[in-house]
Order: sequence, then C-alpha cells, then structure tokens
Amino acid sequence: MASVPSLASSVNQRVADALASALPEAGGADPLLRRSDRADFQANGILALAKKAKANPRELAATVVEGIPTGDLIQEIEVSGPGFLNITITDRAIVETLAARAGDDRLGVPFAANPGTTVIDYAQPNVAKEMHVGHLRSAVIGAAMVEILEFTGEKVVRRHHIGDWGTQFGMLIQYLLEHPHELDHKSDEEVSGEEAMSNLNRLYKASRALFDSDEEFKTRARARVVDLQAGDAQTLDLWQRFVDESKIYFYSVFNKLDMDIQDPDVVGESGYNDMLVETCKLLEESGVAVRSNGALCVFFDDIKGQDGNPTPLIVQKSDGGFGYAATDLSAIRDRVGNLGATELIYVVDARQSLHFKMVFETARRAGWLNDEVKAVQLAFGTVLGKDGKPFKTREGETVRLVDLLDEAVDRAASVVREKAQDLTEAEIAERAAQVGIGAVKYADLSTSAARDYKFDLDQMVSLTGDTSVYLQYAYARIQSILRKAGDARPAAHPELVLTPAERALGLHLDHFGELIAEAAAEHAPHKVAAYLYQLASLYTTFYAECPVLKADTPEQVENRLFLCDLTARTLTKGMALLGIRTPEKL
Ligand code: ARG
Repeated sequence: MASVPSLASSVNQRVADALASALPEAGGADPLLRRSDRADFQANGILALAKKAKANPRELAATVVEGIPTGDLIQEIEVSGPGFLNITITDRAIVETLAARAGDDRLGVPFAANPGTTVIDYAQPNVAKEMHVGHLRSAVIGAAMVEILEFTGEKVVRRHHIGDWGTQFGMLIQYLLEHPHELDHKSDEEVSGEEAMSNLNRLYKASRALFDSDEEFKTRARARVVDLQAGDAQTLDLWQRFVDESKIYFYSVFNKLDMDIQDPDVVGESGYNDMLVETCKLLEESGVAVRSNGALCVFFDDIKGQDGNPTPLIVQKSDGGFGYAATDLSAIRDRVGNLGATELIYVVDARQSLHFKMVFETARRAGWLNDEVKAVQLAFGTVLGKDGKPFKTREGETVRLVDLLDEAVDRAASVVREKAQDLTEAEIAERAAQVGIGAVKYADLSTSAARDYKFDLDQMVSLTGDTSVYLQYAYARIQSILRKAGDARPAAHPELVLTPAERALGLHLDHFGELIAEAAAEHAPHKVAAYLYQLASLYTTFYAECPVLKADTPEQVENRLFLCDLTARTLTKGMALLGIRTPEKL
C-alpha cells in the first residue's frame, strides 16, 4: 500500500527547488501550480516573489526554467506572459504514475499527515415523528463526510442525536398507560417500518385529541412529564417503547437509503440527561452563564432580538427544566472529554445556525472548545419543490421521506427497464433501487450543502447531465468494454504517445488524491461529485475519440483498456464515498 505522489506535487517540488536556488531568500515559497488550458500546468507564484525581492519576474522565471531538468517528468517548460511558467508533462510520466496508482488498493491516495478524531453529528430524526427531506439531507451529507474523512485516515465517531426527550412524551406515555395494548406486537411477526410509523401516528393523533379535549387528561399528561424527568421506572419503560418502535421505523428508512446506521452510534438527547445538572453548575460557577428572571442564561454582545434586547441562550428554564441547549452543551463535553474529539461536525439545517453559534461560543467560553478542538456546523439549505418554495404536499403538509424514496425508485425502474437488454425482473428491481436512491443522494450532494435545491425527480433520473445515472452508465459501459475485451487485458504502456483526450483523462485521474484531501479539509462532498462528473465527461470524450478494442496496435488496446479500468475504479471509489453504488450492468 504505497501512496503515489501526484504529478502536480512532483512538478511543484521541482519548481520549488529551482526557485530556492535561483532566489535563496524565497526558499520554501510555493510556486502556485495550477492546471491550465495552455499547457498541463501553470506556475503563477514567481511574479509576486520577484516583486518582493525587487527582481525582474521574467528574468527570475528564466533562471528557474534553466534549473529544471526536462525529459523524465517534464516535457517542456517555458516562460509566458509577465513571468508565469507553462509546463507540459511527458506522456511517459503520466502513464507511469497512473500505473503506480493502479497497483494500489487506495489508488495511491495518501493518508492525511496529522489525522485526528472527528465526531460527526448527523442523521438525527425525532422519536414518534415522520422523517422528512431535512432528515434526508443530514443523513446523506453526513454519511458522505464520514466516508471521505475515514478515507483520509481520520478516526471518525458517528453520533445520531435523535430527538428522544422532551415534554411531548408526557401526553404519549400517559395515553399508552391508559391504553396499554396499543403498541403490542404479535410475537411471531416482525413489524415493518411502515407499520411502526403508522402505530406511532395513530397514538400521536389519539393522545393529542384527548389532550386538547379532556382537561383531566391534560393534567395527568403534565404530571407524567414530571415523572419522566424524575426517572420513574414505569414511565421510563413506556417511554422506551416509543423509542424502540421509532427505531424500527428509522432503521427501515435508513435501510431503504442503503445506509448503515449502527445502534451504539444512536445516542439521542436522553443520552446526556446525567450530565445536565453538572453542565449547568460548571457554567454558572465559571460565570459563563448567569441567572436572569430565574433562568440560567448566556448573553452575547452581537446577538439581539428585533426589539434590540439581547437574545440569550437559555441553558435552564426558570421552572428548572433543561432544553435543547443544555443537551448540546453536555454532548460537547462528552464528545471532547470522553470521545477525545479534535473536531466536531454538526450536519444540521441552516435554520438552526443561531443555536449552534451560541452553543459553540458558550463552549469556548467554558473552555470545552479551543484552538485544538473546533466545532463547525455543516449547515445545509432547504429542499424546495418545483415551484421554488419549501417542499410541501398539495395539502401543505411536509412530504414523507419514504414516499419520495419510493417514487424515485419507481422512476428509476422505468429508466432501467427501457435501457435494459439482458436483465431479469429481479435484476431490474435491484438496479432500480441502486439508481433511484443514488439519484436522490447525488442530487443532494452535487450542490454545495449550504444552498437550497429543487427536488426534481425528472431531472434526477435523467441519463444526461450532472446526474448519478450518467455516472453509473459511464461505469457500466466501461465494464461492458472490459468484458468484451476477450484475451486483451488492461496494461500500462509508458512508451506510447498519448492523444490529447488520453492525456486530459490521465491528468484528471491523477488528481483524485488531491481532490479528496480538499473535500475532506473543506467539508465539501460536492467537490467529489463535481470531480466525478468531470471524470465521466472526460471519459466520454476519450471514448468518442479513441477506439479502444479497435485501436491500431495491441499495445494501444491494452493501454486504453488500462485507462478504462482505472477510470472505472476511480468512479466506483468516488461514488462509494458518496454512498452511491455502481452496478456492473445497467
Ligand atoms: N433532531 C433535530 C431535528 O430534527 C436535529 C438534531 C441536530 N443535532 C444536534 N446535536 N442538535 O431538527
């Protein structure tokens, strides 16, 4: 398992070395290498360095060029414009570097230099409630971040901060206590996610109706909240049944999403109950939080309401109850203190940004976060309907996530059926799930998380354009070529002259590792999607211009098969990071 230095980094090193001997005071300066249309790379860093050293930029550039050997790695290097360097790589270096990548399971992608421990808070639905598109975004973006970071060697701890605590349980528990068989299951049958959710909905509606119409029930429900908070055993038992029933539903949705959620990683709000009192005590004793009208509050100079009065973070209400903020602050203490996190990522709707801003600032003041341990909200935008308004049903209700997923799979089934030549019905069903769910995930991941996007199934399952189906087809087409190749095997031939399309594809393949490092550091899964789309596009051009199995010589056939194969492996790996499958046939 050897990591392979990218062509860009090798060239960068050569230019940096030549620069250091041409201008010793610039030792270690970055020549700022970029991909370029004019040559393979352009170095733009010399200009500024020359100005700083009061030297002539073109002269300095010429001296640097003299100090760079050509032949093995660099084919040609020339000064252009006011002092840029245009650099062309040898065909040999491209093929040899790609061959080294092909020989490695990780495609030569290096591990990060200083990996840490990241705790990612994502996929956090609420107990006894239906999942909606917001929960989809958190789950899909979070899962991609987990994979991308783990691929760089980061230790990742997953936390599903489900909403499993709060006053709303008083009503539900009291109702179940008075109607004890409402959540009973026949022992010999497994309950489906759909049934579990419909049981919960039924209970919710019935208890709500009673709560709104029957004053005595309302009083009993309120007393039940107190019992729950006091840890009364019978009350907790009933509460647990709601949580368990909800988990059946959650897992069925995650399963539909082709997503692996592990029970030990589900640590909901209730998981921090034991820490709440101490969290408040620490905040109050250190003066970070103060009592205001009986409530324990943290104030911020720059956060004010519309009336101009400061908006505090309320850690404990005046009636002694703890809310969302106390739980999140306790979770930070747990994640930093017990899990050893060096970074915390919260994949949560942008509409909760003020909450997290206040929570993170409070944690910094308390010393739980600092320069070594940072917290960030990977905030995501709203999912919109085709009309550009937040996604709702015609009746104005939130759209059930399961309905959307089922519809996506249905649409995908017709696309697959239309294209399928030699697929059985069972294969069509399997592919439809992979294509439909992939389409939904890709649509979410291909725009930067912060932006809103339109949920448009027609566009999502389109065979052309920036969709996962397009990428899956590119992959399947390559597999079909490899199957048809017969005795010809992919093999690198560094002695061959490459066409422009082969070079463009090769250079992009070589960039994979740098792209991953960038996406990991910037928490930007959409950059992986953009990379893959460009890869598939470059492959399409290559395929149109360069006959593979009918190439001129056997060596060229093998070399092109080799490019096909490495493209396919890079596509599968990249798609897997986004949680999307690449079926062998479509
Ligand atoms: N359950 C919340 C919701 O559905 C999201 C939880 C986000 N995570 C957190 N640590 N507060 O909106």
